[in-house]
Amino acid sequence: MKMKKIVTILLAAIMILSLAACAGGNEPAGDSDSNTTSQSGSEGSKTSEESRQSGETPSNAADSADSSPDQEPEGIKILVAYFSATNNTEGVAQKLAEGLGADLYKITPEQPYTDEDLDYGDSDSRSSVEMNDPSARPAISGSVENMEQYDVVLIGYPIWWGEAPRIMSTFMESYDFSGKTLAAFCTSASSGFGSSDSALRSAADGANWLDGHRFSAGASADDVMEWANGLGIN
Ligand SMILES: Cc1cc2nc3c(=O)[nH]c(=O)nc-3n(C[C@H](O)[C@H](O)[C@H](O)COP(=O)(O)O)c2cc1C
Repeated sequence: MKMKKIVTILLAAIMILSLAACAGGNEPAGDSDSNTTSQSGSEGSKTSEESRQSGETPSNAADSADSSPDQEPEGIKILVAYFSATNNTEGVAQKLAEGLGADLYKITPEQPYTDEDLDYGDSDSRSSVEMNDPSARPAISGSVENMEQYDVVLIGYPIWWGEAPRIMSTFMESYDFSGKTLAAFCTSASSGFGSSDSALRSAADGANWLDGHRFSAGASADDVMEWANGLGIN
């Protein structure tokens, strides 16, 4: 009887010690979980690394953010590049650049176009001669600094005889647009966008082209941003 009592006391003591040991063992795990969601320290990274190794997807936003601080995508860099002989396209380009927070680049002819040059009623005018010669490449003054930095380039021009002016081909052939997203926009008196960007497209191997758009000379900021926002680039 006395022996039975001793055994009972011993068993009770063992159970109490085991319970105490279990409770103590759970504490660090609990701490580790809370660090994962609230800190970007090594515990969080370790948890994500464990997830990656086991093929799991990190299950919460804090975990994902902790695991890839240097993999966060930087902002998309956009350039609006345009040629404008009488400033209509320039107005659209400026509104686009402002609305998108993009850089703006004016394609400036080495030899500026005079009123006589732009006389489309004269078959001998400079613009008529250039547009009658698909191989014409009017020279550009200056260049885009560091074109590599841009993910998206929006390209603007006036419609000349249903097409983009030849100086736009000079521009397109001056840079490597592969891997970039491109979209053209234009202004005109009445012509639609049509296939005015076809020469531009064929000069940009490996680019991803989005649908272009024609604006009237007096297009508002709302008009241009409606198109820009529909491109899905910002
Ligand atoms: C040489 C030349 C050809 C043109 N051809 C067309 C045309 O085919 N269709 C049209 O609707 N407008 C035509 N226009 C009008 C321009 O596209 C329009 O005025 C445009 O908004 C001018 O843009 P900018 O001020 O940026 O140069 C032509 C203008 C010029 C100077």
